[in-house]
Amino acid sequence: MIRDHGRTGFVTEPRATRSSGLAGRALFALVTAITLGFFALDTSAQEKSVRPGINDSFEDAEVERFIERFERNGREIYDRRFDILNALELKPGVAVADIGAGTGFFAKMFSEKVGEKGKVYAVEIEQNFLDHIDEMAEKAGIENIVTVLGEPRTPKLEPNSVDVVFICDTYHHFEYPFDMLRVIHAALREGGRLVIVDFERVKGVTSDFSIGHVRCGKGTVTDEVKDSGFTFEREYPFMKEQYLITFRKRPHTFDD
Ligand SMILES: C[S@@+](CC[C@H](N)C(=O)[O-])C[C@H]1O[C@@H](n2cnc3c(N)ncnc32)[C@H](O)[C@@H]1O
Repeated sequence: MIRDHGRTGFVTEPRATRSSGLAGRALFALVTAITLGFFALDTSAQEKSVRPGINDSFEDAEVERFIERFERNGREIYDRRFDILNALELKPGVAVADIGAGTGFFAKMFSEKVGEKGKVYAVEIEQNFLDHIDEMAEKAGIENIVTVLGEPRTPKLEPNSVDVVFICDTYHHFEYPFDMLRVIHAALREGGRLVIVDFERVKGVTSDFSIGHVRCGKGTVTDEVKDSGFTFEREYPFMKEQYLITFRKRPHTFDD
């Protein structure tokens, strides 16, 4: 660079440097354009809601109303809750996440199984349910339940923090299933287990309400979970209108 100590007082550059400055600016503009293009692409590639509005009925939930709805005899998963608990094979000391914990009756059952050295993360996107679970735990002197306010795209669980993830009647409420599964995969420790309970979706067997309400059946759920880095493990066939399927985390490979 040549300094102009003449009248202008500005610093001038020789021709060669000026043209390399132009080239530099052009390169900068190109890199900026590519970067902006990349982010524009990235944003448009974001997963879109598969079911906008599916969780509207839980907003500012009146918890008492949901206790009557969720914790009642005649609801298949409530009637079979002890079979479901056994299928989880929870051992003392493990960390389990109940994603979409609702009124928390499963979280309470898990808390006993995993004991004082274990942990239960009760994850919800609706704060009123979490307040209820906190109150219930305090009254019962339960100290191993941690409530977590998730978001529609993430359960906000730390990587490698849990051994089992349980999702009951909630997978079909995920607006962004692949985003959720990505974080669930990362949150599970090596070989961790993912347990999903949801509604069968079979014409002639499933009620019209469930056919309309539940966006996809067991086959699609299985495909989505497998595509997200899990291996199918087994199905427990003890329910009629619902299914319980389990998966194991497999380490991501290049084509995951
Ligand atoms: C039908 S309820 C099931 C509640 C409970 N698992 C049960 O079976 O009683 C579905 C719950 O999932 C919650 N939910 C929906 N999307 C969620 C998400 N992405 N993360 C965590 N909770 C979610 C809703 O707020 C609602 O409480």
